[in-house]
Amino acid sequence: MANKESCREVLVNKVAGLNVAPKIISDSPTTAKQRTRLQSEDAANDLLKENLTDKTDVAGDSVLSFFGSWINETKLISGEFTNAKPFEHVAIPNFLSDAACEQLIKEFPDPKNTRHNWHHYDNPIEMKYALNCFDGLPVASKMFHLLSSPEVILKIRELTGIADLEADPHLHGAGLHAYPSGGKLDTHLDYAIHPVTGKERRINIILFLNKDWNEEYGGDLQLWDAELKTCSQVMPPKYNTAVIFRTCDISYHGLPFPLKCPTDMHRRSIAIYYVSEPRPETVKRYKAKFFPHPEQKVCDNLRRLYEVRKDRRIEQEDLADWPTWRAEGGKFW
Ligand SMILES: [Fe+2]
Repeated sequence: MANKESCREVLVNKVAGLNVAPKIISDSPTTAKQRTRLQSEDAANDLLKENLTDKTDVAGDSVLSFFGSWINETKLISGEFTNAKPFEHVAIPNFLSDAACEQLIKEFPDPKNTRHNWHHYDNPIEMKYALNCFDGLPVASKMFHLLSSPEVILKIRELTGIADLEADPHLHGAGLHAYPSGGKLDTHLDYAIHPVTGKERRINIILFLNKDWNEEYGGDLQLWDAELKTCSQVMPPKYNTAVIFRTCDISYHGLPFPLKCPTDMHRRSIAIYYVSEPRPETVKRYKAKFFPHPEQKVCDNLRRLYEVRKDRRIEQEDLADWPTWRAEGGKFW
């Protein structure tokens, strides 16, 4: 590569199939603080793109060899996906080849390892760690490159029936996720419009990486009905099982109850999201929108946090006026 800039441009174009570099969309409702955050996220993403560059040592059929047999049955699986309730989804065991999954688990860094730039969400709505900078993580880097490859995108298009589906080269919100003991994620709708590219988020893939996961630990991914009254499906975070699901204005999902795993364990997963050109009817939601559990009492402090989260991440200063919050969660945190 001639220089860093050409590395990034080549990679963005290669992964996304884009003809032009992505740009900030003009109607994104960003404040100066949000823009600063987006710029720092972009800096992390720049690094990510550099990490991914020159890891393309596989192509064609060999890309598919990293996946389980489902990769050759996507047309068959599409019926299960389309007819699923409460919204389109399918759970795929043996998502990766066993060797690829083992490598990914072996490399998955501990969230307490300060060598990696984990972001710690620590508030009543979200308690988890997220990492989308893969510096020093060649297996994860390669895996996201594979999942963004034309060969795999073609398969995901077949499975979901979304003909113009494409990868997100920014991996916005995607990456490695780890939930500690006590961790949780309130039920939510994902962001609908990508804040950088303006594309619409259409499909999530979440791959679980938990060996020896006891069902008593909890951590099932819950899928809720369109009225957010009933949890219709629970998806245990089983080893090498992926959940592929549609993300839209009724795809309420989350893990709203605290994990009960041992304190030296985490519920580990990787997440990747796919986008398309936005549809005219799409609600322009630039951030995930979170909701309390129907049984949950919502005090004023908590209500305020749900409002804050509609526009941006919750920071520790948002909790300064509520120093006793950790003791007030009841069964919800
Ligand atoms: Fe989500």
